[in-house]
Amino acid sequence: MKASLVLASVFTALVNTVSADGVEGTAEGFASEVTGGGTATPVYPTTTDELVSYLGDSEARVIILQQEFDFTGTEGSLTEEGCAPWGTGDACQLAINQNGWCDNYQSSATKVSVTYDAAATIGITVGSNKSIVGKGTSGVIRGKGLRIVGAENVIVQNIEITELNPSLVWGGDAITLDSSDLVWIDHVTTSLIGRQHIVLGTDADNRVTISNNKIDGTTSWSPNCDSYAYWGLYFGGSSDKITLKNNYIFHTSGRSPKVTGTTLLHAVNNYFSDINGHAFEIDSSTQVLAEGNLFESVDTLVDGQEGALFVPDSDGSACSDSLGRSCEANGYTSSGTWSGTDSSFLSGFSGYTIASAEAYSSVSGLVSTAGNSL
Ligand SMILES: *[C@@H]1O[C@H](CO)[C@@H](O)[C@H](O)[C@H]1NC(C)=O
Repeated sequence: MKASLVLASVFTALVNTVSADGVEGTAEGFASEVTGGGTATPVYPTTTDELVSYLGDSEARVIILQQEFDFTGTEGSLTEEGCAPWGTGDACQLAINQNGWCDNYQSSATKVSVTYDAAATIGITVGSNKSIVGKGTSGVIRGKGLRIVGAENVIVQNIEITELNPSLVWGGDAITLDSSDLVWIDHVTTSLIGRQHIVLGTDADNRVTISNNKIDGTTSWSPNCDSYAYWGLYFGGSSDKITLKNNYIFHTSGRSPKVTGTTLLHAVNNYFSDINGHAFEIDSSTQVLAEGNLFESVDTLVDGQEGALFVPDSDGSACSDSLGRSCEANGYTSSGTWSGTDSSFLSGFSGYTIASAEAYSSVSGLVSTAGNSL
């Protein structure tokens, strides 16, 4: 080979190494085997239609977002009868009558007319074997969420999802999982969401890792008619195994998270801050290990504790047999109290990859590192 050719290929290799766009790092915990779009050549959508097409087709894809995709108005707006379950004050959320919710569950609620953006009410379909990765802080999806339903092996990293009819219950969920397996949601920022920031449906969602996300509950409309979003994280599902690590969850008032179905949740090294209602709901038949988390100004740590909860604050040695290490104590500042002494379910961690844990004192730095900040 000529020297100039050798130089050229060395140069190309260098450029490729430096500029390769794709997933950073690997998932910890239950979804550690996720590969998403793997080594597929990256694609760079430039329109909402292209984004929808790349996410929903049956190819393995690495989809790089380097701009905002604004879906508001793309499916029109609807005006219909909804309801006002918490009154009609300016800061109160109203509700869309989805599946008869206003009639069946809030039947005494005042009926009111609601107008909303149609695109936000149902997320973009995401197929199997996809990586969706934002560049810097540029990857924003406005006015529509992501729907990973009946799909497996998906990575969503370093994007922001915002503005899903935040004034309305059923206005839209940011990320929905159902009938899935191996999903990693990492460094995602969610804000101004009408319904759930992340929701795992009632079917099996299997192995899921939710890490380094910024769940921003700051809003102008809520059930409490204040600025604290109620509908944070909803972890349903049959036999789901969820690692929730290094997330910054703040300014919410409920469901942060709600754990239901038969979910096993490992909540480790999260920063729960400024929650003026409750953080956890732990329904019967669920199992929650909460270690190394920092709770700051969280009124109620758990509301409705019917499932199994292990909080290894005084002695973490019960984790050794199943996790291969001791568990970390949680830290509390200006927060409520709880106790969780049931370690009998920890054997359910055996055979899985378990996320590591650091002392809770390391967690407050998530204020600046969580969300789409890569
Ligand atoms: C995802 O990729 C794997 C490995 O290449 C393949 O076996 C599987 O069929 C793919 N799934 C779909 C739904 O395309």
